[in-house]
Amino acid sequence: MTLDDFSHADEWGPEKIVTVADTRTGMRGVLVIDNTARGMGKGGTRMSPTLTITEVARLARVMTWKWAGVDLFFGGAKAGVRFDPASADKEAALRSFVRSLSSEVPEEYVFGLDMGLTEHDAAIIQHELGDRRTAVGSPRELGGVPYDQWGVTGYGVAEATDEAARWHGLKINGARVVVQGFGAVGAATAERLHSLGAQVVAVSTSEGAIYDPDGLDVPELLHAKSEWGDGLVHHVGGVKHLSTGEELTLPAEVLIPAARQDVVDAATARRLSASVVAEGANLPLTVEAQAVLAERGVTVVPDFIANAGGVVAAAYAMDARHSAFPSEPSQIRTAVSERLRANTVNVLDESARTELTTHEAARRLAEQRVRTAMELSGRTQPTRVSVRH
Ligand SMILES: NC(=O)c1ccc[n+]([C@@H]2O[C@H](COP(=O)([O-])OP(=O)(O)OC[C@H]3O[C@@H](n4cnc5c(N)ncnc54)[C@H](O)[C@@H]3O)[C@@H](O)[C@H]2O)c1
Repeated sequence: MTLDDFSHADEWGPEKIVTVADTRTGMRGVLVIDNTARGMGKGGTRMSPTLTITEVARLARVMTWKWAGVDLFFGGAKAGVRFDPASADKEAALRSFVRSLSSEVPEEYVFGLDMGLTEHDAAIIQHELGDRRTAVGSPRELGGVPYDQWGVTGYGVAEATDEAARWHGLKINGARVVVQGFGAVGAATAERLHSLGAQVVAVSTSEGAIYDPDGLDVPELLHAKSEWGDGLVHHVGGVKHLSTGEELTLPAEVLIPAARQDVVDAATARRLSASVVAEGANLPLTVEAQAVLAERGVTVVPDFIANAGGVVAAAYAMDARHSAFPSEPSQIRTAVSERLRANTVNVLDESARTELTTHEAARRLAEQRVRTAMELSGRTQPTRVSVRH
């Protein structure tokens, strides 16, 4: 065993790593608090049989940038349990895990949802620790904010897209849109863009793509998704069927990659017809593709700006833990819309001003915000000193 290695640490963090284990249930878990310069560490809680400490540390760092990018006052953190969520002993392992972290929760960390955990698990955590403040993501019946069910992330992607289109000089009303991936994010994005007047001409799932240059019937697609899931592409009539991936380069003004990472490489980026791309998925454009699109004048909204609706909703859920009033989806959507629209314009303006790609500009803004907070709180030496006379 080698534990005396700080190679994972850099100027930003992590500030604290707590590992826990329980021989009886076989549970092993970790909490990583990355950087709290802008507020307490907040990020979801993952359960996976292959979980590693490095994975959780990386995700905690992503949260540091996400919170700063969206300009909300939380820091980066993430927790994880190495356990199979399909096991019959899941609840015992989860209860043991959260009990082991009771000194840190809820003052330093609040549990949330990520892969392997459900709303029901959030309720179990609150019960185990006897405190509603210990987790977000619990069911509405318990005063929680089930923002995943409310399609908040996709709603935010659509709002960011609308704002980016306006910035680009394109009207979303009547614009042709291709949505890759028709899951939680893609479907909610398509629904909101449709309500803003966009024409969704193609959607895809892992089972194939469908295309209608005159616009697909979005309510019909949503209904088909509820019936057949990803198989919806086989059940919609009057459309052209394509293989997955072909939809990316169809004639359209807007592209929403909302499926998985690395789907657009430099070669595909050269063939895109869209002039506005909003990343619903995490990392769908390779770094080379980002450069090609920047060079071609395509307006790109980076993932951690476009898909930050869930993060805004999580902040809302943190506040809701202290309230007796039930949360309303409309309030959260309004908060998501305001924040994401403002952030989108901020990043696009910054990218235009600095000639950085929008990804670089977004990252730089986030880093600047964290660095400033670290300097102001005396965690680091200020890079410049201003003296008040
Ligand atoms: N759910 C959220 O709140 C959220 C928040 C931020 C980021 N994301 C990211 O968004 C992406 C999608 O998440 P989701 O929650 O919608 O997942 P999901 O599992 O609900 O849906 C994924 C969809 O993509 C489709 N798909 C998979 N591979 C494909 C391919 N090669 N081509 C076309 N379609 C393909 C699937 O069939 C499915 O329709 C992921 O990258 C996720 O990390 C999700």
